[in-house]
Amino acid sequence: MPSTITHLQCSRPACGKVAPYSTLQNLCPVCSSPLLARYDLSIAKRTLTLDAVRTRTRTMWRYEEVLPGAPPVSLGEGMTPLIHAGRLGERTGLSNLYIKDEGLNPTASFKARGLSAAVTMAKALGAKTLALPTAGNAGGAAAAYAAKAGLGCVIAMPADTPMANIMESRAFGADVRLIDGLISDCGKFIADNRIREGWFEVSTLKEPYRIEGKKTMGYELWEEFGGRLPDVIVYPTGGGVGLIGMWKAFEELETMGRIGSERPRMIAAQAEGCAPIVKAFEQHGESSEFWNNAATVASGLRVPKPLGDFLILDDLYASHGEAVAASDSEMLAACREMAALEGIFAAPEGGAGLVAIQKLIEQKKIRCDESVVLFNTGSGYKYVEAWQAALGM
Ligand SMILES: Cc1ncc(COP(=O)(O)O)c(C=O)c1O
Ligand SMILES: [Zn+2]
Repeated sequence: MPSTITHLQCSRPACGKVAPYSTLQNLCPVCSSPLLARYDLSIAKRTLTLDAVRTRTRTMWRYEEVLPGAPPVSLGEGMTPLIHAGRLGERTGLSNLYIKDEGLNPTASFKARGLSAAVTMAKALGAKTLALPTAGNAGGAAAAYAAKAGLGCVIAMPADTPMANIMESRAFGADVRLIDGLISDCGKFIADNRIREGWFEVSTLKEPYRIEGKKTMGYELWEEFGGRLPDVIVYPTGGGVGLIGMWKAFEELETMGRIGSERPRMIAAQAEGCAPIVKAFEQHGESSEFWNNAATVASGLRVPKPLGDFLILDDLYASHGEAVAASDSEMLAACREMAALEGIFAAPEGGAGLVAIQKLIEQKKIRCDESVVLFNTGSGYKYVEAWQAALGM
């Protein structure tokens, strides 16, 4: 089934600028907001059915009607297991707790989905060298897919990024620049040099396709829940691409008549040491403020000011969701629980999600019979330093 992509459109409704998908694009040329891919869903819905997708390739590319159309640069991303967490659920007080284990993706995090889509389109549209700032895992994924595609890759990451991210990126042949600072400083380095160097920037939300890859997490839940959606989705939020992407997937599914207007409550889990979305949510703000001195072992959550903050917050409010922060010690303790009770060696980001669930149950904002999906966004194998501390080694 071919892709039904028709155009790109600015994510700010007041702008709405349309851009072609047939050339390389970064932000909206008018207002510098993220561009979103749009599809002819009246055509897509003819073939995108539960029965049809179940017969297709076991990667995220099975939802091809609603993904960009080019030969996929694929390492087998997506279709991660959705595990019923019976023992952890019992301990936590939930009979329907599920863990979507994104640590089983290529390069051991959910970043594989977004980068598979972005690298696919960048290659198809003629980019030669990709560049991005990263908190860690996106860099490793970009480097792997660039290697697979035969493209150059320049990665700027904080000097104190977990060693596994630096090692994998170098192994995949990327040009890794270690910057004394945070992802925001790395972003500035890439933005300042990209034009002179001829790099195509694939930073979070600065090109339209990472979100398309990440939205497949929403399509997978729809498929795994047999055409329905869970009551609650808990998502460790840094740049928020997966949360925005899943919300986009649900809108597309509704437009295609595959689901009704009901939606899961979306829960953004953040770290106490960097919680701009939690702070904005508590103040009912439309956007976030830059978080000074961001620090947490959950390196993927160390994003002081997400570019798509207004989209994340819109989706949280629309879903009647929540935003909850976890301390580093809370999230590492939660990781140990997940490991001991479910055999899942999680990233600290996944631990933050479990803490959010525990806190919301205490506050009676999640009921014991609700279906709750916790996204473990990465593998603990990439966080040896954090796990050493967690285990007191
Ligand atoms: C393991 C992990 N979890 C969560 C995140 C945050 O992802 P997002 O930017 O989609 O909010 C990251 C980002 O680097 C990550 O590496
Ligand atoms: Zn615009």
